[in-house]
Amino acid sequence: MTEKLYSIEALRRRAHRRLPKMVSDFLDGGALDERTLRANREAFESLRFKQRILRDLSEINVSTSALGEDLGIPMIVSPMGLLTILHPDSDLGIARAVARARSLMVHSPWSGCSLEETHDAAGGRVLAQIAFWRDRKVTEEHIARARNLGVSTLVVAGDVAFSSKRERDIVHGTGMPPKPPIRDVFDVALHPGWMAGWLTGRPMTWGSYRIDDRRIRMREMDGWMSRHNTKDATWEDVAAIRRSWDGRIAVKGVMCVEDAEEAVNAGADAIFISNHGGRQFDNQPGTVDVLPRIADAVGDRAEIIVDGGVRRGSDIVAALGRGANLAAGGRAFAYGLAAAGEAGADRAFAVLSDELRIALAYAGVRSVSELGPHVFADGAGPALPVGTPSEAPPQLFSHAR
Ligand SMILES: Cc1cc2nc3c(=O)[nH]c(=O)nc-3n(C[C@H](O)[C@H](O)[C@H](O)COP(=O)(O)O)c2cc1C
Repeated sequence: MTEKLYSIEALRRRAHRRLPKMVSDFLDGGALDERTLRANREAFESLRFKQRILRDLSEINVSTSALGEDLGIPMIVSPMGLLTILHPDSDLGIARAVARARSLMVHSPWSGCSLEETHDAAGGRVLAQIAFWRDRKVTEEHIARARNLGVSTLVVAGDVAFSSKRERDIVHGTGMPPKPPIRDVFDVALHPGWMAGWLTGRPMTWGSYRIDDRRIRMREMDGWMSRHNTKDATWEDVAAIRRSWDGRIAVKGVMCVEDAEEAVNAGADAIFISNHGGRQFDNQPGTVDVLPRIADAVGDRAEIIVDGGVRRGSDIVAALGRGANLAAGGRAFAYGLAAAGEAGADRAFAVLSDELRIALAYAGVRSVSELGPHVFADGAGPALPVGTPSEAPPQLFSHAR
């Protein structure tokens, strides 16, 4: 398996072979014309590094510490709901890979697995995402569960008040419950490996909340949502959590300096720069493009996490070089899971870690703590025109330790 799964893109291709089109489109897709989705990648692709040579590279250290944790890699797993549909190993497979990589994983309130079981599988290396529901007591109960587990950081879902319009999902009738057109029913039948996992694997329930003290079935999720969804959450709700929560708070969905300031003023310890992987609001800049200004404005008062389009170890170098403390990713790990279950999630970490080492070496940097604007070809890392072809031959892992 491993020689073929040599990159996140190779994991994505393998995932596409295993998954029916309606599921791979759910995973890949973004809002409207998917301009934000593309902007995330283009922002990374437009950055150019400065190569340094003849430095002692006998020790390269990719570990770091952030959010009060020692990490084996400066890359964590972003919250993702509904991963159970990708592979029966589900979030728990990713969680076990997280424990082995000494990373962190944000549990999503929309996950099919509960916070408790994900926390156990990850050996405690879990942050809890919380959503604001109409009845704030439901949110408070979720926070109480995080507190009982000793979770160190809450990640506030800041960008979920409105459902977005994802046209790939509309075409496939991907809702709760799904209403696929007949061609998708045939396509599912052509993916027996995935179907076997679906039929015999983990039951498709919603992990976080309960009805009559039992797990919520997926087909009941829409009803639960319409009773509990709210559009009235504000920064005051974040400040209210701050008053009762002693651990760290990160706010996810920050894309501008104004909101980063709001987050810090409301008591956030970390700013999670994210446009939801292009899944919510179209025509936005790439996250790594907005990162330097946000890091300049609040980087001395809060830690900075950035996700969106991280597919290469060199993207982690770019994110940290532009001022983030941590990079994060959703699809990179979801592709691993969908391609090969838990082993695929391990593979995603291994690929990113190997590529990170190589990129650090060529940037002449021995440790991620040394990263800064000096790693970019122009010293500050502004975008260059997109599309300059890469001359580098594919020599991945040739220097990997
Ligand atoms: C299948 C899937 C489910 C997601 N579910 C959530 C979620 O429950 N909460 C959330 O804040 N973001 C969610 N996201 C967005 C991710 O947390 C993250 O911001 C995004 O995936 C980053 O972009 P990337 O996939 O290019 O790494 C989801 C993304 C995907 C792909």
